[in-house]
Amino acid sequence: MEKKQRESWGSRFGFIMAAAGSAVGLGNIWRFPYMAGSNGGSAFIIIYLVFALVIGISVMVGEFAIGRRTQLAAVGAYKSINKNWTFAGVLGVLSAFFIMGFYPVVGGWASAYIFKSFTGLLSNPAAIGDVFGAFITSSIEPVVWMLAYLVVNIIIVSKGIAGGIEKAGKILMPTLFALLILIAIRSISLPGAGAGLDFLFKPDFSQVTGQTFLAALGQAFFSLSLGMGCMMTYGSYLNKSENLPNNALIVTLLDTSVALIAGVAIFPALFAFGMEPAQGAGLVFVVVPQIFAEMGSLGVVFSAIFFIALTVAALTSSVSLLEVVVAYLMDQRGWERVKAVYTAGGIMVVTGILSSLSMGTLSGFKLLGVGIFDFFDILTDKIFLAIGGMLLAIFIGWFVKREDLEDELTNGGTVKFGLFNIWYALMKFVIPLAVLVVAVMGIISIEQTGLMIFGLGVIVVLALFSKKL
Ligand code: TRP
Repeated sequence: MEKKQRESWGSRFGFIMAAAGSAVGLGNIWRFPYMAGSNGGSAFIIIYLVFALVIGISVMVGEFAIGRRTQLAAVGAYKSINKNWTFAGVLGVLSAFFIMGFYPVVGGWASAYIFKSFTGLLSNPAAIGDVFGAFITSSIEPVVWMLAYLVVNIIIVSKGIAGGIEKAGKILMPTLFALLILIAIRSISLPGAGAGLDFLFKPDFSQVTGQTFLAALGQAFFSLSLGMGCMMTYGSYLNKSENLPNNALIVTLLDTSVALIAGVAIFPALFAFGMEPAQGAGLVFVVVPQIFAEMGSLGVVFSAIFFIALTVAALTSSVSLLEVVVAYLMDQRGWERVKAVYTAGGIMVVTGILSSLSMGTLSGFKLLGVGIFDFFDILTDKIFLAIGGMLLAIFIGWFVKREDLEDELTNGGTVKFGLFNIWYALMKFVIPLAVLVVAVMGIISIEQTGLMIFGLGVIVVLALFSKKL
């Protein structure tokens, strides 16, 4: 393999925007509200916040450290330190494919809604829910949008790190933030909004089960782009003078605040309109247009801007997923960027089509008891990411030299990381145990037992063949 200068981020702001761009996405605005809605609201949110701010942040520091230390993306990073661990990186690449099996479908919905805002979606508020149902279950329209969305991903990632990914994030992330705050203000000022705030912030722990913890942990990892080497890959493009723990803190805080603001944007309005919090995956696509529906032509414009911002937030996340696969093919297989992007993108076209069709035409087709979309979603969110995060913690705690970690996290002793010992103990003992307990509790109580066994089986098989990978 020829030795080329590794690509790197153009600036500190660019990196933060890219990492935050990866983290902030459909996970915050589409997924977080409906997970909170269907898991009882506030109690779920509190558990989620604790997981994000203790486990998530620590794992992110770990991913940045390993990525920058080795200057390699997930698979190469593990492999270069210990060959028995190559599988943990491979699991990450597999997770990237799985998440990209459903994410572009929702990205396509978001892009479609930009145009639907103008073409009469808002003119009949009572029909907004039915319109959504009819749209996602049809065979052609959502597939076309999904493909358009994927093509944009492919174009951005083929342009490389600083040119494509970084530029897009810098402009559109701040726009999204501003718009969400606007919607949140509008939402709380609706009559009857108080019930939504109660639902969000008055904890009711009677709703909590083993499922709640696993759902909250999965959501924390998903939302922060952790547990599959994504932040490791981004860290590998990071300059040696950056303060890793600080960057992890900023990214985590940005990400959790966007999720919370999305909650405040959605739930007060939802209760004000007398809708059900547990209505699932259609939540944002139904509630947000309703908020804008009674605002006339101004509403149309706001709705369009919202879905533009949502599409962009999704894009800056999905490009990071595609980048994990591409970086692997470049680092480990010596491929050119463009060839890697087209190959990985081609596979994602196929899985995306199947996943989109599983909402309607193929809804009768089940893999281990669930449709194709759910298969990809549940496997990553409920198993692969959490176990991936746990593996990283064990790897860091037990297989990487403590001095190396300290050296990397303090930039060779030039910056302070006062919490190093606490972080290290968390990685070594607390996180592996905590994830194990949550995973076991959750997996026992889950309905899709076959799927869980399959997921764990995949991980075990990868681990057994680690040296061959
Ligand atoms: N975090 C993104 C979101 O919330 C999705 C995402 C991007 C992701 N990269 C990831 C999830 C890596 C898990 C792992 O939408």
